[in-house]
Amino acid sequence: MADNILDAFKEDQSKTVIDTDRKMRVGIIGTGWIADAHIKSYLNQPDVELVAGADLIPGKAAAFFAKHGVEGVKTDYASHKEMLDDESLHLDAVSICTYNRQHAEPAIYALNKGVNVLLEKPFTVTLDEAIEVMRAEKASGKVLSIGFQPRLDANMKKIKEIVESGELGTIYYIQTGGGRRRGIPTPFGTTFIEDETAGLGALADIGCYSLDMVLNAIGYPKPLTVSGYKSAFFGTDPNYSNYVKTGHPEYAKKFGVDDFAAAFIRLEGDIIVDFRISWAMNMDTAGDTLILGTKGGLRIPSTECWNGTVGGAMKVYHEIAGSQVCTEIPVITMKGPSLFDRKIRTFLDACKTGAPAPVPSSQILYNQAILDGIAKSAELGREIEIEIPEI
Ligand SMILES: NC(=O)c1ccc[n+]([C@@H]2O[C@H](COP(=O)([O-])OP(=O)(O)OC[C@H]3O[C@@H](n4cnc5c(N)ncnc54)[C@H](O)[C@@H]3O)[C@@H](O)[C@H]2O)c1
Repeated sequence: MADNILDAFKEDQSKTVIDTDRKMRVGIIGTGWIADAHIKSYLNQPDVELVAGADLIPGKAAAFFAKHGVEGVKTDYASHKEMLDDESLHLDAVSICTYNRQHAEPAIYALNKGVNVLLEKPFTVTLDEAIEVMRAEKASGKVLSIGFQPRLDANMKKIKEIVESGELGTIYYIQTGGGRRRGIPTPFGTTFIEDETAGLGALADIGCYSLDMVLNAIGYPKPLTVSGYKSAFFGTDPNYSNYVKTGHPEYAKKFGVDDFAAAFIRLEGDIIVDFRISWAMNMDTAGDTLILGTKGGLRIPSTECWNGTVGGAMKVYHEIAGSQVCTEIPVITMKGPSLFDRKIRTFLDACKTGAPAPVPSSQILYNQAILDGIAKSAELGREIEIEIPEI
């Protein structure tokens, strides 16, 4: 009851006034699965004109806009380059919705053309690519935001608020990750599982979210060292149950990434992150996220598959006058726009006002450095130091 009364005073983002005098001319690069979510959210913005779309597959972009009932969009481009070279478009911004291996190149090309970029997660595949994108961002002065919409969930924000409140004291250990029992993402083909398109598997696909949840909460300290592991026992098995169910045993031969990864990461400030992530494993969960501090510990129930929020009520374990107690943090039910609408809106607002990117590359650089470090350490079979060059 009390919550209902207080909720009535909370800001309803759907009532935020949007300056419609200045329309944003937007293009979409890559018109596959996630581009659906982008276009739906752009169509909910009164100050957006969708002017162009490009996909490597001939006819795919045209069919995409037709499916969404959007007319008058130019789509006769063989790739992102032709679209971005078309000066008649006067593009203000692009969403880059391409597979992971095609994140860096279109992002650099767009920034070099002076176009603001909303780049889907993960940032890139390698740390080197992320550095190159950030150099282009710096030279352009344009907005680059990385597509981590779970950041905009009120429960995710609550994690950061709890840490920043000091209730947990000094943070020294974090366990995080997530896990699907059978969830290799192949419903729309093989772009998530082939090395030449995805580059990394579960590690980057959902691992980047788990890392962002905790690293954002503690202020993104610099990663120092990592000992990583990755495997692919399920994805490479033609008898993997979901391949059999969907009649695609040949996917096993195409599988060139990881379906499970784990790591032990040291961060600046003497903080340890114990991480594991899975698309497929013989276990129901890879465990809840735990943040241990000198005054309190936070348990964040895991979700089976990342959907941008917590898997249940969070709990703070602490001590009051010598008694060990546990305080439950109720799950916050979000009202108003979807997380994707918020992701698109906050990006557009940053482009229009010159405000910082909602999910800045300077933070996600450390996320990417860890993913890259895990992959490299796993290949070498030993711990490595994470070295991040100057941008
Ligand atoms: N934020 C989220 O919730 C979320 C959810 C799913 C996927 N994603 C991310 O979105 C990205 C795309 O995923 P998807 O499922 O849409 O993949 P997809 O394979 O369905 O679509 C990608 C499309 O990009 C096109 N493409 C690739 N390179 C291109 C280029 N240079 N120019 C033009 N078109 C190009 C491909 O032909 C393909 O049609 C991935 O990096 C994934 O991690 C994010």
